[in-house]
Amino acid sequence: MARIVAGISSSHVPAIGAAIDNKRTEEPYWKRVFSGFEKSKEWMAKTKPDVVIAIYNDHASAFSVEMIPTFALGCAAEFPPADEGWGPRPVPVVKGHPELASHIAQSVILDEFDLTIVNKMEVDHGLTVPLNLVFGSPKEWPCPVIPLAVNVVQYPPPTGHRCFMLGKAIRKAVLSYPEDLKVVVFGTGGMSHQISGPRAGLINSKFDKAFLDNLSKDPQKLVRMPHIEYMREAGAEGIEMVMWLVMRGALDDKVDEVYRFYTVPASNTAVGHIILEPSRKGAKKAAAKPKAKRPAAKTKRAAARKIPLVRKGKR
Ligand code: DHB
Ligand code: FE
Repeated sequence: MARIVAGISSSHVPAIGAAIDNKRTEEPYWKRVFSGFEKSKEWMAKTKPDVVIAIYNDHASAFSVEMIPTFALGCAAEFPPADEGWGPRPVPVVKGHPELASHIAQSVILDEFDLTIVNKMEVDHGLTVPLNLVFGSPKEWPCPVIPLAVNVVQYPPPTGHRCFMLGKAIRKAVLSYPEDLKVVVFGTGGMSHQISGPRAGLINSKFDKAFLDNLSKDPQKLVRMPHIEYMREAGAEGIEMVMWLVMRGALDDKVDEVYRFYTVPASNTAVGHIILEPSRKGAKKAAAKPKAKRPAAKTKRAAARKIPLVRKGKR
């Protein structure tokens, strides 16, 4: 049976990709950002997922403004890097997992989430930058990646609650896949940022940190947050954070926060990153829970007849 072994969220700022591609990661500005992902790379090398499901948004690279699906699941065998205006990033082609992706499509759509099935798609910084941050810059990505693109570029994006419920449906799909696969779910985008307009440059660290706290400990506080609150508190592009709720919905109710990093800024954005694993305490409790004792046949019969079990004189 496939399992979800962790959820990871991270920002997906394109300038982070440019810093990698132009070999500027050692400059102090960028070192501050990349140093926060050293532990994550170690964690990834230890965890070795068999498949990543990456929740991200396309920035008018694959879909353009002519067609914007709300939820689009990549079922192809591979996803080449998109041309984002400077040419495609020099990163490996993302290899998909068509079998698991088709299984997820079937399970989730029959669960009444109307995903768009995508059999040909390019992927932009929304997906490739988070891969770089936690896998570094290998010749080939170390495992297949199933992209799930969410519309957060044109109103109306899906609600946080819908995203969270989609995460739950994805979890159900993964857990019903017969092959023993370790799956890690990525939520990308955010945190607070606004790229244009009078509030360009907006960062709200207080909001971001509370979001991280709630994502980890009390996601129900986030699932009903309206879009306007993301926009007001975290800037127009802060809405990308609804995608983190898909990741969170795919995890257990209780999780252990194994790592967190937050720095301001990278380009226009507050960079937030978190790694959540299924709660160890919860797993231990479940393992230690004694099986409910079946009442002995005699006790059951006695109970049925309402006969007192302790006979007189035998106390
Ligand atoms: C920036 C951040 C984004 O998430 C994005 O998609 C584009 C630009 C930025 O910080 O510049
Ligand atoms: Fe973005």
